[in-house]
Amino acid sequence: MTDAKPAQPESPKNPGSSAAGDSAAGRSSGDTIMGRAVVDRGWATKDELEKCREIQQRLPPGTKLTDVLVQKEVVTRRQLARLQKELEADRGQSAIPGYQMMRKLGAGAMATVYLAKQVSLDRLVAIKILPRKYSSDEGFIARFYKEGRAAAKLNDQHIVGALDVGQAGEHHYFVMEYVDGDTVHERIQAAKRIPEREALLLVKQVAKALKHAHEKGFIHRDIKPKNIMISKAGVAKLADLGLARAVSDREAAEAEAGKAFGTPYYISPEQARGLREITPAADIYGLGATFYHMITGRVPFEGKNPTEVMKRHLSEPLTPPDHIVPDLSQGTALIVEMMLAKDARDRYQNATQLLEDLECALTGAETVHARPSGAFMSSLAGATSPADPDAPVPVLPGSGKGLPWAMIALGALLLASLLINAYLLVSKR
Ligand SMILES: Nc1ncnc2c1ncn2[C@@H]1O[C@H](COP(=O)(O)OP(=O)(O)OP(=O)(O)O)[C@@H](O)[C@H]1O
Ligand SMILES: [Mg+2]
Repeated sequence: MTDAKPAQPESPKNPGSSAAGDSAAGRSSGDTIMGRAVVDRGWATKDELEKCREIQQRLPPGTKLTDVLVQKEVVTRRQLARLQKELEADRGQSAIPGYQMMRKLGAGAMATVYLAKQVSLDRLVAIKILPRKYSSDEGFIARFYKEGRAAAKLNDQHIVGALDVGQAGEHHYFVMEYVDGDTVHERIQAAKRIPEREALLLVKQVAKALKHAHEKGFIHRDIKPKNIMISKAGVAKLADLGLARAVSDREAAEAEAGKAFGTPYYISPEQARGLREITPAADIYGLGATFYHMITGRVPFEGKNPTEVMKRHLSEPLTPPDHIVPDLSQGTALIVEMMLAKDARDRYQNATQLLEDLECALTGAETVHARPSGAFMSSLAGATSPADPDAPVPVLPGSGKGLPWAMIALGALLLASLLINAYLLVSKR
């Protein structure tokens, strides 16, 4: 996903640089920027560009390079218009006071992220720049600043730190800690499946981030592989915490239509339902769906479109992860299933409980909270009545589906033995 193009020294993102050499060669800096951008996008090779430049030199003064590029059918007018717009947007970004833009790191559904240097502290940061269209939504901008400021108070090594929020021209931006590494999404794409222990260790670090955030009153609402970054030192960091969302969770999910990896694959049933009251359990579900994807190489529920995927989150039983990967430990399989319980009350009630079980799975001990029949027994007991949403998931020590079956089997044995004895008595007579 990461667009790791090298910084272009003469790019408009680096206002300090000059195009003096180009002027000497009779080229305008605009031509140079457009020319480079055309090559950067793979629309023309360097040779093709150079040939067009030579033609330009032979044409009357004032002829633009872009005119030649169109004439020679290297690019279309439409492509050029789009490129012009993008470059203008970049020029806007270069105006963020105190930051030197370096290169694009990536782009998501909502914004583009750039690597930049914070001049005062001489450090690298990542800056997320929102598209202009958000500027007119006052309610959203107010939330953007409020949540950004609140997030700056979070302090955890597993959370991508929020450093600054502001406005440059028509663009609002969010400055955050730069993570030099990759994302869980990229790891899944590269390896298809992440080995169980590695996945457990990553999930544990994100669970720590959630514990910190939830205790401070934050709910992430968009836990997914793309939002979990892994630094080169192997530290997992949860990104986008404190980044306000412009639309509802359901709308955001629907906007993902047509994408292979999108929000609906990790959305909790309560968010898919469009409920406003979202609790930390939604993040536990999102992390559970991410965990499932890591260890099985598959998302929990697939579908033709986002709506279908969301419906499945709501009602389709989960294929247990160990049915896909049989050598998975029982502990891990149970943890994932509990994280993905459809009813929020059947999930871990907080990240601390989840951390306890993850530790058990890592040490090979029996999980404390996730039990083979936890949900089954609680539904029998009717202990999680809708009137009591905070009721803990009842976990009976040593309980299991095995218990009623054992009693039935014992009864059947007794009956069989009675019948045999009766038969023997009758046959002796
Ligand atoms: N703090 C950061 N440090 C380094 N790279 C980052 C950072 N934050 C984001 N990125 C990069 O920028 C990309 C885009 O991030 P962004 O949050 O805009 O979208 P996303 O999370 O990938 O997807 P979506 O928009 O669907 O949520 C990420 O995939 C990642 O590669
Ligand atoms: Mg993100």
